[in-house]
Amino acid sequence: MKFFIDTADVDEIKEAASLGILDGVTTNPSLIAKTGRKHKETIQEICALVDGPVSVEVTSEDFEGMMKEAREFVTWADNVIIKVPLTADGLKACKALSTDGIGVNVTLCFSANQALLAAKAGATYISPFVGRLDDIGRDGMDLIADIVQMYSNYPDIDTQVLVASVRSPDHVHKSALLGAHVATIPFGIINKMFKHPLTDIGIEKFLADWAKVPK
Ligand code: E4P
Repeated sequence: MKFFIDTADVDEIKEAASLGILDGVTTNPSLIAKTGRKHKETIQEICALVDGPVSVEVTSEDFEGMMKEAREFVTWADNVIIKVPLTADGLKACKALSTDGIGVNVTLCFSANQALLAAKAGATYISPFVGRLDDIGRDGMDLIADIVQMYSNYPDIDTQVLVASVRSPDHVHKSALLGAHVATIPFGIINKMFKHPLTDIGIEKFLADWAKVPK
């Protein structure tokens, strides 16, 4: 399973990359706005920090606008891939970009049929938003189970399931059990994933015993 980090904060990306577990980055307009920095310089800095794909999202709502933005974004760095929303124009852009060999992450997926359409349109990644489904009283992980099973019924589909809107370590481990290809995880959740109280207690005990060893 691949781990992406869901942030545009360069310090968070540096820290996650230093753990040796980072396979890519996802950004979105809200995450970019949160940095208070310019889009292009932020993306270029991020792209230099990671080997894997960095998703950069278009903000145009029409096909031509999406294509124009995408064509510019891919000149910013070799590892930029384009994030388009799951709309009719987004699917058209996905088809056109993937036909040209450009990686596409189709975002804002909330149903299994949307995921099927993205796969048909040649998406590299489909991003179902589990946390936002949980927020409206649905179980986001049910959608992941459905998409993973649907895609596995058709071995010619090579779109990867990228679990997005991750809100807890539980979302990550359930995604892995279901066989999702990727989870894009906020920095705070990555930190929670390696913490365990018994690990801390264990270290404390080992160090206390070590202090008793004659030096
Ligand atoms: C995915 O690529 C999105 O950037 C992200 O996961 C959205 O998460 P949120 O619902 O916490 O905003």
